[in-house]
Amino acid sequence: MLHDVPLLQRIFFVTRRLNYFVAVSGLFFCGTSYGHAMEDKLVLMPAPASIHQEEGSLQLTPGMRVTYAHFHDARLEGGLDRALRRLEYISGQPRLQVAAGNEGSAALVVDVKGAGGAVQSLDEDESYSLVVSSTQIQLSAPTVVGALRGVETLLQLVACDHGACHVPAVRIEDTPRFRWRGLMIDVSRHFEPVSVIERTLDGMAMVKLNVFHWHLSDDQGFRAESKRFPKLTGMGSGGQFYTQEEMRHVVAYARARGIRVVPEFDMPGHSVSWLIGYPEFGSSAAPTELPAVFGIHDESLDPTQEKIYKFLDALVGEMGGIFPDAYFHIGGDENTGKAWRENPKIAAFMKAKNIQNTDALQAYFNQRLLPILKKHGKHMIGWDEVLTPGLPKDVIVQSWRGGDSLAKGAREGYSGILSAPYYLDGMKSSEEHYLADPIPADASLTPEQKALILGGEVCMWSEQLNWLTIDSRIWPRTAAMAERFWSPADRRDVADMYRRLQTTSLQLEMAGLTHISGPQRALRSLALSREPVALGVFASVLEPVSFHDRYQAQHTNATTPLDGLVDAVVPDPPSRFEIREQVDAVVGGSDLAEAGRLALVARFRSWEEAVPALTELASQSPRMPGAAVRVKQLDQLAKVGSEALGYLKADKRPPNGWSEQQLQVLDEAAKPAGMVRFTFLPSLRKLVEATAK
Ligand code: ACM
Repeated sequence: MLHDVPLLQRIFFVTRRLNYFVAVSGLFFCGTSYGHAMEDKLVLMPAPASIHQEEGSLQLTPGMRVTYAHFHDARLEGGLDRALRRLEYISGQPRLQVAAGNEGSAALVVDVKGAGGAVQSLDEDESYSLVVSSTQIQLSAPTVVGALRGVETLLQLVACDHGACHVPAVRIEDTPRFRWRGLMIDVSRHFEPVSVIERTLDGMAMVKLNVFHWHLSDDQGFRAESKRFPKLTGMGSGGQFYTQEEMRHVVAYARARGIRVVPEFDMPGHSVSWLIGYPEFGSSAAPTELPAVFGIHDESLDPTQEKIYKFLDALVGEMGGIFPDAYFHIGGDENTGKAWRENPKIAAFMKAKNIQNTDALQAYFNQRLLPILKKHGKHMIGWDEVLTPGLPKDVIVQSWRGGDSLAKGAREGYSGILSAPYYLDGMKSSEEHYLADPIPADASLTPEQKALILGGEVCMWSEQLNWLTIDSRIWPRTAAMAERFWSPADRRDVADMYRRLQTTSLQLEMAGLTHISGPQRALRSLALSREPVALGVFASVLEPVSFHDRYQAQHTNATTPLDGLVDAVVPDPPSRFEIREQVDAVVGGSDLAEAGRLALVARFRSWEEAVPALTELASQSPRMPGAAVRVKQLDQLAKVGSEALGYLKADKRPPNGWSEQQLQVLDEAAKPAGMVRFTFLPSLRKLVEATAK
């Protein structure tokens, strides 16, 4: 029994809702899990492959002992030490002591067969089993990585009530569905300090992700120190880059958590930063400064020069020594070919070699890169565009264009990973990301072709974020995708996902991520240092518009301040799903209809109460352009909702024309303003339409 869950939710709402809703009604707003008996359910994310809950639990008491059945190494010991420290923090009890001795009397027995790969491979065995009885926890795994996965599950099982903590009796057998479960971070468009990378790796380990794809170079910056080619960062990073020591540290930090690090050096396009210091490798006259403008630049490495392959040989060799992973990401995306077409020497080269077009020239470039990577013990991975005729079958294609292109690769015999539905900057809901499967149920692939789909990768492009806002863009949505990649395919219950996600979100924040505290701080700053209560109400029902919509509104570039309302609000805040469930309960007349109605009444009232303070703030703050429009709409929408509930409660039809008027208000509120959008408009529409029935 996880009696602590409601308490955790309460803490969640205190933090997420900035104290406001708890003040108006802790009772009504007790969770996205509205409609579900959460007390009886475990909160594990990602859900394990198989779990049997049994009677009873093991109570954690001071002086309990942990022992290794036989194998242990520094990595396992370090992982366990970190876990026990977290457990101490969760439980408020002194740490369990790791000590040799009789297995029978130990509270936790860790039974690991061996270290696993010296360099973690795609085939690392990450399985584990966790058996908890009222007297002992047995964690067994073939490898240290498997044990690390099991330890995370164990921590998620710990529940506290009445001043004591316990672990419910369970039998868990767990293994991932996909071998490649990644998160990519672009550190070129905006740089991220090592501390951000570290805490992101901590979060990844908590939800069992296993690949950190580090997008280290792009037009706006080359972020990896090269001693062979010092002008790469010397002139192409604006002084923001990782030293070799820092990169080695990140690799070790990730390995300690069972995470591979795949570096990406994007080429031949997206390479302006390379050319600032080394214009001789370019196909056209290179800019002398890093471009502030994002998007696709025409500059490109020149594939016709022999010296570029010597350069790349040396660079891959140098970076390959820092990043031991078997895969080396060469990017390969969005090369326009314009600089190649316009360069007479390159045109002459193409003619002499009978290279028909720039796609074929890029295929030539890739073919030249392959033996270089091979020489340094690396397999190639690249974005969709690398998939060209004649590519060897050990190349992995990362699909950012969609499932169809992934399936096409698989039909041709290429391994692939899916990223298209997992772009965080699209500002989609956790639900939408969660339901997108690397191998959809209707995929027309043979079992052999399906086996080529290695998994998925969440992508965090950084044009519109910085180190202050990155966490709230990555978390908690990435946890939902981590479950898609780890758990059985039939795990698709969205309500249950949201029920667990809010607890997982809190756990991530407690472990050091700042996706809850960061936006709070941002709102406090936006509120001109006043208590941001009204702003919290406002922010709780707003989310940022998509990357493209923001770009349309703002033409975001590298100098755009990222400190507005759009940066302080978070994608898919709990309100979206909560209001949907509450409206569904009211409209569907379920057992929860009255509770849902009361919750909505209180919510609409809280909006109206926030409006005067918001109106004042919107008129004073230079950082909330367009907010005044949204404030006015919030006021109108609160009235729409309250009136609709009134008619439904009285079982009375509204007067002629009322619905049309309300729907007009909703239509207006759906139009772009302030780079933020309301989370609840479809649900409110449903409520209005229900009055006519
Ligand atoms: C990409 O989004 N250009 C990989």
